[in-house]
Amino acid sequence: MDVKSVGVIGAGQMGNGIAHVMALAGYDVVLNDISQEALDAALETIKGNMARQVSRGKISENDMQAALSRIKTTLNLPDIGKTDLVIEAATEREAIKQAIFEDLQPHLLPHTILTSNTSSISITRLASRTDRPERFMGFHFMNPVPVMQLVELIRGIATDEETFATCKAVVDRLGKTAASAEDFPAFIVNRILMPMINEAVYTLYEGVGSVQSIDQSMKLGANHPMGPLELADFIGLDTCLAIMNVLHDGLADTKYRPCPLLTKYVEAGWLGRKTDRGFYDYRGEVPVPTR
Ligand code: CAA
Repeated sequence: MDVKSVGVIGAGQMGNGIAHVMALAGYDVVLNDISQEALDAALETIKGNMARQVSRGKISENDMQAALSRIKTTLNLPDIGKTDLVIEAATEREAIKQAIFEDLQPHLLPHTILTSNTSSISITRLASRTDRPERFMGFHFMNPVPVMQLVELIRGIATDEETFATCKAVVDRLGKTAASAEDFPAFIVNRILMPMINEAVYTLYEGVGSVQSIDQSMKLGANHPMGPLELADFIGLDTCLAIMNVLHDGLADTKYRPCPLLTKYVEAGWLGRKTDRGFYDYRGEVPVPTR
């Protein structure tokens, strides 16, 4: 199947990045959110990130203008139904994602492929509530989407080969690399990454190190581009906690129990960069550790 148009649901940090790379690759993009403010903010972010790519010589001014003209925004979910490929990138809560797919279903074209950018929720379970489990799969980007090379493609139990091949061709056209992952809790990247981040929070909780010494140790001692606590703030502490809970519930192993300190930060509303405070306080000139 030849994909020409892509519908992106959710204009948050993943959704705007997905719209960005799809438009640059030549796809017509329809970006949907329930909030006009979120849509406006997403367009500003996309313009800012594309302008940075122009200034670094990665793309031309013409590429940027052409890509921006291919992005339409809408508050009306049914508009998404007329696209060839839908990528849902709403909040990482199963009930929300299910409600979106239910509302969208009556407006879909027969051939439309449905995908979710979920970082951990069962693709098979999400697919089973739709009318097209064979044309449903996981399409998981990494943050920041314009920079990260990998896309995880996750087949549900019913996903057919044509759907996988079509999504793989889209990843190829984006110039990214697809990794095929089986549909088990948190797939590959987060199955490995989140327990490391959770362990970093335990290391802080138990007083083994401070925020600064933990991040510095992993940056300088293991050559990670960001320390694990800095990375947790970047991903969002609510998302990290949600993924740990999916691992804990889905694999029923105590080694995946979320650190109580991670839960406490989320309860405080200190969710990382998006709320200006997490393991670091971002309200001043430079980030300041909060412990
Ligand atoms: N859009 C476009 N370009 C961007 C960008 C964005 N949002 N963010 C950064 N860039 C570009 C910069 O312009 C720069 O380009 P050049 O190489 O041409 O100069 C390049 O990326 C590097 O950026 P910076 O120089 O500003 O900063 P940096 O060298 O510190 O790199 C980083 C920033 C790429 C984010 C790096 O710190 C990094 O790789 N961090 C780890 C990110 C990571 O692990 N992501 C995965 C998270 S897990 C996930 O996403 C899965 C999930 O489900 C939770």
